[in-house]
This record gives sequence, C-alpha cells and structure tokens, in this order.
Amino acid sequence: MPRFDDADFGVEAGPRDPRQNDAQGTLSPRDQRGSAGLAIPSDSGNTIEIPATRSSISDAAQFMHNLSLSPSMKDRRGSRNSFGTSLPIPRSPRLSRLSSVQRPGAPSVSRDILASQVQDMSKEKVETAKNMAFAFDIDGVLAHGNEPIEEAKAALKMLNGDNELGIKIPYILLTNGGGKTEVARCEQLSEILEAPISTEQFIQSHTPMQALAEYYETVLVCGGEGYKVREVAESYGFKNVVHPKDVLAWDPTISPWRCFTPEDRAEAKPRDFSKMQFDAILVFADSRDYATDMQLIMDLLLADDGKLLTRSKDPVANRIPIYFSQGDLVFPTDHKGPPRLTQGAFRIGIEAQYKAITGVDLERVVYGKPERATYTYADEVLKSWMEELHNENRLPQNIYMVGDNPQSDIIGGNMYGWNTCLVRTGVFQGKEGENDPNNPANFGVFDNVLEAVKAAVRKELGQEFKLKWNPKVNPVLHGEGVSAVE
Ligand code: G3P
Ligand code: MG
Repeated sequence: MPRFDDADFGVEAGPRDPRQNDAQGTLSPRDQRGSAGLAIPSDSGNTIEIPATRSSISDAAQFMHNLSLSPSMKDRRGSRNSFGTSLPIPRSPRLSRLSSVQRPGAPSVSRDILASQVQDMSKEKVETAKNMAFAFDIDGVLAHGNEPIEEAKAALKMLNGDNELGIKIPYILLTNGGGKTEVARCEQLSEILEAPISTEQFIQSHTPMQALAEYYETVLVCGGEGYKVREVAESYGFKNVVHPKDVLAWDPTISPWRCFTPEDRAEAKPRDFSKMQFDAILVFADSRDYATDMQLIMDLLLADDGKLLTRSKDPVANRIPIYFSQGDLVFPTDHKGPPRLTQGAFRIGIEAQYKAITGVDLERVVYGKPERATYTYADEVLKSWMEELHNENRLPQNIYMVGDNPQSDIIGGNMYGWNTCLVRTGVFQGKEGENDPNNPANFGVFDNVLEAVKAAVRKELGQEFKLKWNPKVNPVLHGEGVSAVE
C-alpha cells in the first residue's frame, strides 16, 4: 500500500515525545495528553497532522448572551493544551477495513475494447479527460436523504463512461454527512443513484477521524440512528467504544429526558461506567437524543480526567478532548420549507452550555468541509482513485467541487484552489443570475449537478464534446478531433 510522508502535505512531522523511550517505546493515548499538548504517536505511525484552518476556540460567544454563572472565572486559562491546533488524518486513504468491492461500472468487454480503440485515436482528449476530476457533495447535490436528485443519475452515468470517448472521468463523493459505515452508505447510494459507488471514492465527515484511533482507546461516540456509530468507530479501530445508550442501560436516571426504548435496551452494552476512564468524545453525526447526548457530553467535559460520575475542581485542566465530525448549521432535507438544523447547531448548544457553566470557551476540533484536513485527505483519495481507474497515482490538475452550501462546500473549495460550482438544489436558494455574496462559486451557479458537470466537461474538452457514448462508433473512421457520434 503506498504511503506518504509529512513533506507531501507541506507540514512538519510532530515532535517526538521524550517519554517514548519506555520499555515498549510507546505511550498510552492517555499519557500522550499532557500539559504540553497532544503528542503524535510516532513518526512512522499511520497518521499525519494537518494544521487547523479554523481557530479551536468555540463560536459560542457570538451566538449567546452572557449566560455565565461565574463571570469571575474569566481570568482562568482558556485551554490546558493544544490538541485543537491540528487535525490528524490517516497517512494512507486506502485502509482495507473500510473497503467495499464496488468498482466503477463495466458496461461490457466489447464496449471496453471499442472505447480503448476510440481513445487510442484521441490521445489529446484522453489526456485532458484524465486531467480533470469532480468532488461531489451529496446532500442537496446528488440526493436529499434517500431520494436521488434525478439529474445526478445522468451526470454520474456520463462520468462513468457514457461519453464520446467511453472514458471514466474520475470523481469522488465528499460529504459532511455520516452516521453509518462507509460500506453501508456506498451500498445505499449505489442503489438510489443507479451507479456503483466504491468506498475508495467516498469520504464522509468522520472518515478521516479514523486517525484518532491511534490516540484514544476509550471513546464516547454520539449521533446517528440506533447503534450504527458504534460499528463505524469499531471499523476505524477504536478499542473501547461507548454509545450513550450503553450508559442509559447502566443507569437511566443519568439523563432525565432520555429517549430509550425496550429495543434500545436489548442492543445496549452496559458496563460499570463508574470505573471507566474516557479518553475522548467523538460526535459522528446528528444526535437523535439531544437531552442524553448533551448531558453525557457535558458530564464528561466537566469530569475529573474523563471519569463519568466525578466533577473536576478545574474542568479546564482535566478536560478530555471533544471532536465534532462537521460544522454545518443547516442542511437540505425533503422538508418543503427552509433547510433544517444539523450538527453545527448541536455543537453551538454544547459550547454555550459549557461557557455558561464554566465561564470559559470550549476548546474543540471540528472536522469536515471546509476544514483543510478534509480537502487534504480528499486529494489523497482522489490520487488513489486515479490509480484505480487509470493506473496513474497523481492528482488531476482541474478539480471541480460541486456543492449546495456556500459556507462549507464552496468556501472550502475556493480556499483549496479548486474550481467551485454552486447548485440550486439544496441549501443555496439564490435566484437565476445570483451567486452567493459572501462565498461566491468561482466557476458559476447552476440549476443542478448535471448542468454543472456539462459546463465543466465542455470547458475542458470543448463545446462539441459529446456527452453520450455511441455504440455504433467505428474507430477506424473517427480519428483525433472527430466526434465519435455519427
Ligand atoms: O448534516 C449535514 C450533512 O448532511 C451535509 O451533507 O453531503 O451536503 O455535505 P453534504
Ligand atoms: Mg450539501
């Protein structure tokens, strides 16, 4: 499996912790958290540190009135360490435990042979086609929840080879969604979009967070339907995964306003949580039980070094870290009215509660678009996918991000040097001719994903490029620069 070095990302390797010279040569995740900051496990580990794009200090202050119970605490130090200044991501994007067997569609052997003959006759166009790629947002671009956006099917079909060259133009899916395994979500998307989606071209908000499994063993994992995030965290390698409902099954009174059914209880894994020490809190998806999740998160943030039923004398000094998988405030759904609240709103609630109780801003890490770490990881996935499709492990030069949310998809793509296309099928509701005033898409605004894909392909491959494969093509009669469609 190809691996890459810190230099590939333009970052310096983290400092080695002198305490690593113990008998085993390694530190436990807990020992790695010290007043000097969080140490990178080792120079040769499977993670790499990407400097944070955004401040690690919470946004709560600007969204709240002065709710603090103890204003006199304002002199307290804002943070005990610097865990929030960088976001670990995996060194290699292709971890076998995440992979599914889905591969891009292969229409037929005879068509592949014909396509390769056409491609041999059009080398220049082929090189241009391999030098472009797409990164698609999902919610509001390809689908609304489980409902496909019809134009998305045609766009993916064209990129999967239904074009004049019969060539696969690479694309990845880059979503702030999550809450189930990559394998499960790809199976679901393949079905509704009628196109095979591989886990190797797929990034959910929490996918890069698998790197955190090198740092933390015992984690509280929140969000999503049922217990699916437990499966996600375990697939990432976290050794001791606790779901909020496990804690409810142990002591339901811990959350007075809980949602906890007999079915929930049947699947729970209660343990004696009074004896457990948590290393970190991970929010992977939207909470389905705000009351319980907020209560347990607050309990752990205020606890003495992650011990659930305790209260620290100094919650800042002994606080365990908290990570959110993404920061979107709203997202498009099948609701007919305005977009609905999502994980960012939940996070601001946590931040405000923490500030109100302790008087200090919560230090936290937020993954997902528009965070640079997510785009850096996307580059690596795209390179690997290029190798899968075209046997070339390199990044195409012309990358088009197609998104519906100016505050995550577009600003992130703009900052990362990608071409950005904003569509009107999701969060952005601008009228014909309007762009987002604060985060304008640099390539343009389109009615839907198909229009965006057509415009990008025609910009790169020419206005005459045919967005349809012609099964009657005769490669002997169609050379360079001549359309394959009769
Ligand atoms: O919760 C927000 C999330 O669903 C957004 O997903 O695909 O629009 O990044 P996406
Ligand atoms: Mg979206």
